[in-house]
Amino acid sequence: MSTAISPTAYNYKVVRQFAIMTVVWGILGMGLGVFIASQLVWPELNFGLPWTSFGRLRPLHTNLVIFAFGGCALFATSYYVVQRTCQTRLISDSLAAFTFWGWQAVIVAAGITLPLGYTTTKEYAELEWPIAILLAIVWVTYGLVFFGTIVKRKTKHIYVGNWFYGAFIVVTAMLHIVNHASLPVSLFKSYSAYSGATDAMIQWWYGHNAVGFFLTTGFLGMMYYFVPKQAERPIYSYRLSIVHFWALITLYIWAGPHHLHYTALPDWAQSLGMAMSIILLAPSWGGMINGMMTLSGAWHKLRTDPILRFLVVSLAFYGMSTFEGPMMAIKTVNSLSHYTDWTIGHVHAGALGWVAMISIGAIYHMIPKLFGRAQMHSIGLINTHFWLATIGTVLYIASMWVNGITQGLMWRAINDDGTLTYSFVEALQASHPGFIVRALGGAFFAAGMLFMAYNVFRTVRASNPAEAKAAEQIAVVGAH
Ligand code: HEM
Ligand code: HEM
Repeated sequence: MSTAISPTAYNYKVVRQFAIMTVVWGILGMGLGVFIASQLVWPELNFGLPWTSFGRLRPLHTNLVIFAFGGCALFATSYYVVQRTCQTRLISDSLAAFTFWGWQAVIVAAGITLPLGYTTTKEYAELEWPIAILLAIVWVTYGLVFFGTIVKRKTKHIYVGNWFYGAFIVVTAMLHIVNHASLPVSLFKSYSAYSGATDAMIQWWYGHNAVGFFLTTGFLGMMYYFVPKQAERPIYSYRLSIVHFWALITLYIWAGPHHLHYTALPDWAQSLGMAMSIILLAPSWGGMINGMMTLSGAWHKLRTDPILRFLVVSLAFYGMSTFEGPMMAIKTVNSLSHYTDWTIGHVHAGALGWVAMISIGAIYHMIPKLFGRAQMHSIGLINTHFWLATIGTVLYIASMWVNGITQGLMWRAINDDGTLTYSFVEALQASHPGFIVRALGGAFFAAGMLFMAYNVFRTVRASNPAEAKAAEQIAVVGAH
């Protein structure tokens, strides 16, 4: 096999860059998560400064974990998967490089402006208009690179993983552009183009579909490639994957109003959101089962392969959080769970258990292949990481369930004369032990990421340029 770069070689440079940055942003975003979790235990950690206060660092945490860590994992894996399943190089190296540097610039800009207090105040859409415009340009370029590569594919059909990545790219562009429509009044201040209940509805149409398309559909694309590859089995049912795709993207888009139960939003819209959320259980579980059943006949591999464990346990958490979500969307349940730590537990069951675990599994799968190595430097360290991540997630979500239900019940308890049984501070005091356990769980998870960084560093350092170049060659038969 020749080691010179030929035009038919894969573009792995951009994949490597995004893969490495996934680990870097993962450590920073989760490290910050542990820090803000600690602020809730020890408020002195706010240091009495505006830019280190919980209110400013919390959105920085969400931006770093969702867009920096999750986003880089999605870019890395989608560029890897689309090339390998289409048996072709990305359509343009320079546009792909622009998406890498542009995306990093957006993240750095978020890291500067959010602590300084510049924010639109819309959750998950906090970045002010100049940064939002840069993000839109990067995203449209991403779409051009991804779909352009699909157009010039050498294979006849389009593998289902690419359908999921494609839907995630298109819908994210739509959500971002519509929700960010605003009137700038200065370089760092803008006002939403919408007002009142309409603004709230658009924001949560965005917010929920950010969950549905950014944190779910893209990662399902990942699942459809990496689970079969790591298990060395074909996907359980190709037919189910197509039904899964159309059902999921048709239903998700209607579920946003479950974030606005008992608000000024018209009652019919709330009920519609609730009904659609309950129906959403079906495609979510269809997808989860399709991934799990891919292991039929390969379950024994779980005993020796910690990468496969990451992937399979992520599916278990996906199944759990997509069962919990529809339950929380029921208005009577939501009247207890809303505003409490139960929501935070649900979020992190999805975020740590599903999004982070599947990304970690995919990165461990890719790194040796990107750098021409047979395997990661240490399988034992991957195993240690797996246990830290699993225990960390369980500690996080279990403590938030206990806190959430405690808070919900204490807030609604009333005496015979109609006065509140508990003051807010009493509910806060009752939450304190849970906050400690959550910070501990987060520290476990973040510690696992440090093991990952070391393992990746050793694997990359062991690779020489010739090995890395050889890895890029497109083999004519069975290259993906
Ligand atoms: C069938 C799937 C799902 C449904 C029906 C669902 C439903 C819900 C409901 C009812 C809430 C609480 C809304 C509130 O009271 O404010 C919620 C919050 C949330 N869920 Fe889910 N969920 C699902 C899956 C997921 C997954 C897989 C993830 C993560 C990867 C996730 C991430 C979130 C986030 C981030 C929030 C918090 C939003 C906020 O208030 O900031 N959800 N979800
Ligand atoms: C070490 C791991 C992590 C820790 C310790 C952590 C901690 C926290 C804390 C303390 C909050 C604020 C909760 C509150 O306001 O009461 C939070 C919010 C949030 N985190 Fe994390 N986090 C971690 C990882 C992640 C990851 C990997 C993701 C996504 C992929 C994520 C997504 C979110 C989201 C979406 C929210 C906002 C939830 C809402 O508004 O309902 N976190 N996190």
